[in-house]
Amino acid sequence: MHRIAVFASGKGTNFEAIAAACSSKELDARVVLLVCDKPQAEVVAKAARLGIECFAFSAKEYSSKEEYEQKIVELLDSKGVELVCLAGYMRIVGSVLLDAYGGRIINIHPSLLPAFAGARAVEQAIEYGVKVFGITIHWVDSTLDGGKIIAQRAFEYEGSDAEQVHRIGQQIEHKMYVETIKKILK
Ligand code: GAR
Repeated sequence: MHRIAVFASGKGTNFEAIAAACSSKELDARVVLLVCDKPQAEVVAKAARLGIECFAFSAKEYSSKEEYEQKIVELLDSKGVELVCLAGYMRIVGSVLLDAYGGRIINIHPSLLPAFAGARAVEQAIEYGVKVFGITIHWVDSTLDGGKIIAQRAFEYEGSDAEQVHRIGQQIEHKMYVETIKKILK
């Protein structure tokens, strides 16, 4: 059974989808660690309900990014993590994590990269007036949402309701993230 870690900062619906796929054996894996940079985030309570170990930290309690990433690397090492899945982790991965886990970190992003990298991707796309939205899963490197693309899905939507785009996109994300992780673990 493979050992994966999920990093998240918010609601954690992708985290839940991945954890559910592990429980149902759709994935031959176990989520051995959740890393969250917002101790009050919904995802932290979700991990507690599911009995998944969580490292929730506040960046401001550390003197540098290197320092908290070192702590994360130690945890990943101690749990034998093979794959790190960023799922709404709203921090740029730094050199300490990349040096230790580069090539083993993937991210899901709510746009058709390379369009609309960074924060508020859906809102950026709406402001631009696009009619085709999408989701990208990619390897994480030192660029902002710029690593090699693993999978993409597109959907058409005309309008300016960001909530609606997020809803449609997230339904796609949950299935797509599990399918992609399955392929990578194989
Ligand atoms: C997801 O929609 C993901 O695509 C996005 O954050 C959301 C997290 O939702 N990620 C980014 O914007 C990364 N730049 P969740 O907490 O419900 O899984």
